[in-house]
Amino acid sequence: MSKAANFLTSQVGRKIATGITGFGLVLFMIVHLLGNLAYFAGPEAINTYSHTLHQMGPILWVVRLGLLAFFLYHAWLGISIWLERRKARPEAYHVYDTRGGVSRYSWSSRSMIVTGILLLLFVITHLQTFAFHDFEYAVYGGVEMHDVHQRLTEVFQSPVYTIYYVIIMVLLGMHLRHGVWSAFQSMGWMSRRTNPMIYTAAFIVAVLIAAGFIGLPLSIYFELV
Ligand code: HEM
Repeated sequence: MSKAANFLTSQVGRKIATGITGFGLVLFMIVHLLGNLAYFAGPEAINTYSHTLHQMGPILWVVRLGLLAFFLYHAWLGISIWLERRKARPEAYHVYDTRGGVSRYSWSSRSMIVTGILLLLFVITHLQTFAFHDFEYAVYGGVEMHDVHQRLTEVFQSPVYTIYYVIIMVLLGMHLRHGVWSAFQSMGWMSRRTNPMIYTAAFIVAVLIAAGFIGLPLSIYFELV
C-alpha cells in the first residue's frame, strides 16, 4: 500500500478525513441555510435563488457529486471508527461512569453514531420531499421556474412535517456541537489555551445552524411569514 493510502486508512488519517469532510458539510449547511432565508424575502426571491442554482448546469452536478461523496465518505468514516472503538472496548458504556457522572467522551461518541445515522436517513427523505419533487411552476418576467416557495409553504402546513423537521434539526445541532469541536481536536488545533474557546465556538455554530434551520418550518407553520 502507498504511503498516502496507509495514512488514509490509519486511525489518525481517518479522524482527520472525518474532520475535513465534516467542515465541508458544515460549509454546505451554512450556504443552504442562507439560501433558505430567501423564503423570508418572498416567493420571487427564493424561487429565483433556486432557479439560478439550477441554471448552473454541469457545475451544479459537479458540486452535487462532490457533496454526495463527502456525505458518504463522512458517514463511512464515522461508522468505521465507531465499530473499531466498539471492538476494542466491547464493555457497556456505563462501565466508564466516573465520579462526576458518565464520561462525556463515551456519551458523545454514542450520541454521534445515533444522530449521524438519523441525519443520513433524514437526508434521503428530505431529498424526496424537496429536491426530487415534481414542483409546480411560477413565472417571473416571462421566465418559468420551480415554485419552491409554494412547496415549502405546503409542506410546513403539516404539523407532522414541522415536528419532524424541528426534531431532526435539534439532532443536527447535537451532532454539530460535538462534531465541530472533535474536528478541531482531530486536526491538532486544540491546546490548553484554545480548548475552551473552541468548545464555545462549536456550541455557538451548532446553535446558530440548528436554530436558523428551525426558524423556517416554525415561521411557516405558525403563519409568521
Ligand atoms: C428546515 C430545514 C431545511 C429546509 C426547509 C430545507 C429545504 C430544502 C429545499 C427547499 C431544497 C430544494 C432546493 C431547490 O430545489 O432549489 C433542499 C435541497 C437539499 N437539502 Fe435541504 N433543507 C433543510 C435542511 C437540510 C439539511 C440539514 C441538510 C443536510 C444535512 C439538507 C440537505 C439538502 C440537500 C443535499 C439538498 C439537495 C441540493 C441539490 O438539489 O443539489 N437540507 N432543501
